[in-house]
Amino acid sequence: TEATKKHDVVIIGGGPGGYVAAIKAAQLGFDTACIEKRGALGGTCLNVGCIPSKALLNNSHLYHQIQHDTVKRGIEVSDVKLNVANFQKAKDTAVSQLTGGIAMLFKKNGVTYYKGNGSFIDEHHVKVDAIEGGEDAILKADNIIVATGSEVTPFPGITIDEERIVSSTGALSLKEIPKKLTIIGGGIIGLEMGSVYSRLGSEVTIVEFQKAIGASMDGEVAKATQKFLQKQGFKFKLGTKVISGERQGETVKIEVENVDSGAKETLESDVLLVAIGRRPYIGGLNAEAVDLEVDKRGRLVIDSQYRSKHPHIRVIGDATFGPMLAHKAEEEGIAAVEYIKHGHGHVNYGNIPSVMYSHPEVAWVGQTEEQLKEAGIAYKVGKFPFIANSRAKTNNDAEGFVKFLADAETQRVLGVHIIGPNAGEMIGEAGLALEYGASTEDIARVCHAHPTLSEAFKEAALGTFDKTINF
Ligand code: FAD
Ligand code: NAI
Repeated sequence: TEATKKHDVVIIGGGPGGYVAAIKAAQLGFDTACIEKRGALGGTCLNVGCIPSKALLNNSHLYHQIQHDTVKRGIEVSDVKLNVANFQKAKDTAVSQLTGGIAMLFKKNGVTYYKGNGSFIDEHHVKVDAIEGGEDAILKADNIIVATGSEVTPFPGITIDEERIVSSTGALSLKEIPKKLTIIGGGIIGLEMGSVYSRLGSEVTIVEFQKAIGASMDGEVAKATQKFLQKQGFKFKLGTKVISGERQGETVKIEVENVDSGAKETLESDVLLVAIGRRPYIGGLNAEAVDLEVDKRGRLVIDSQYRSKHPHIRVIGDATFGPMLAHKAEEEGIAAVEYIKHGHGHVNYGNIPSVMYSHPEVAWVGQTEEQLKEAGIAYKVGKFPFIANSRAKTNNDAEGFVKFLADAETQRVLGVHIIGPNAGEMIGEAGLALEYGASTEDIARVCHAHPTLSEAFKEAALGTFDKTINF
């Protein structure tokens, strides 16, 4: 019925992977279309992920700081109140401005935006089932990029109602601050959302199956992170298995069991957040029509050029292998399009930074001590605490440290792990060092401005091969 529309590149999904791929493809001269069914561009990241969570993290930090950290700075404030509705509105404004910005970038670059669900008809045809504001269409494409992202991994037997038992999405929009918040999963979402509500007054308990928090963090850093979160009031139940959970009126009860002792207990809270990871999402894609291969963890299988078994159908971002991070999806979006255009593209998977936006922040890139040990690589450690950094002291914000891991023989930077104020910004310098194969001496001989937090970075690098000056 619908007329077939022809495009050089059709991208299914408008998240960080898909929208960046679309803009790049248009810039490289392809007639490009992007299909998104959410009603807004930006995917999980802009709508219910990175952006709203950072708005809540930033503003809850400000609120907490005004309440607890002003008097000794000579600032006396009284009558500090939280207006939950406006607190949420500030978050919504950040989201709508940024998602609207992508729609403008699409116009500017000439990307055709189809509002609807995209599904395979066959290897070269994609059907658009319109949502409000869109139109049904059949698209014919020389190249297709699947960037359909991920969804929350459900906990078997625990039903998410996004009210009392929430995923990260519900946790981003709670209408009141829970007195007690229990979180299943001590990964990045659990610790970030836990930070938000702990600052707003919730009693936060993390239930984690493993013996350590922080998912893929360096072990020493994960321990230090746990300590500062405990100081902020977090309670941790590590090595603890959740057996069952249900809502009973306005409370949620979960039954947990200590993995070692087998001791059981029941935890009661006002809100339960389930944050045990995310899984690839291909619902609605009709991947069967083109027989795309899916691995045991639900990831679409691709080769090193992002190609599925059909070379013109590529997959990027959370829907396939690798860390589920927005900047990783973006890099893949660019690389996939460059493969189409030039036959080559590049992402350095050894150099993808991770940042947890707690306070202090935790940021890392490259290898952890555990990984180096396992690989049998001889390394040296250089560490510098922010307590000995003049800017951190001046700011009265001096928790944490910078830790360098360098090759024992060549001093080549192998990994950098930072807990501290602005760690997420500082990790960019480590990424540059890794990318260009810098040694720690290269870094330590670069003049860093005084007084800045980055002097701690320089001194930690120095610490791998010489004595530090200020500690
Ligand atoms: P997505 O962003 O999931 O986008 C996929 C899009 O495709 C979705 O909008 C979906 O509606 C659409 N879609 C799916 N199927 C179809 C179809 N058939 N037709 C049309 N459209 C379709 N990462 C970071 O790097 N930093 C952070 O600070 C960060 N914080 C996060 C906080 C939270 C609470 C969560 C949940 C995630 C966070 N992430 C963060 C992870 C980040 O959001 C993802 O890694 C990133 O969004 C992946 O991008 P993507 O393009 O692969 O997929
Ligand atoms: P995650 O993988 O970071 O952490 C999940 C945690 O849950 C792990 O510690 C795991 O051991 C634990 N777990 C798993 N099953 C469990 C069980 N049955 N009982 C108890 N604990 C269990 O996943 P998370 O936090 O849900 O985040 C999902 C994704 O979103 C991550 O891949 C992350 O990279 C991304 N993200 C990134 C952010 C950032 O870059 N700042 C912020 C938030 C999310």
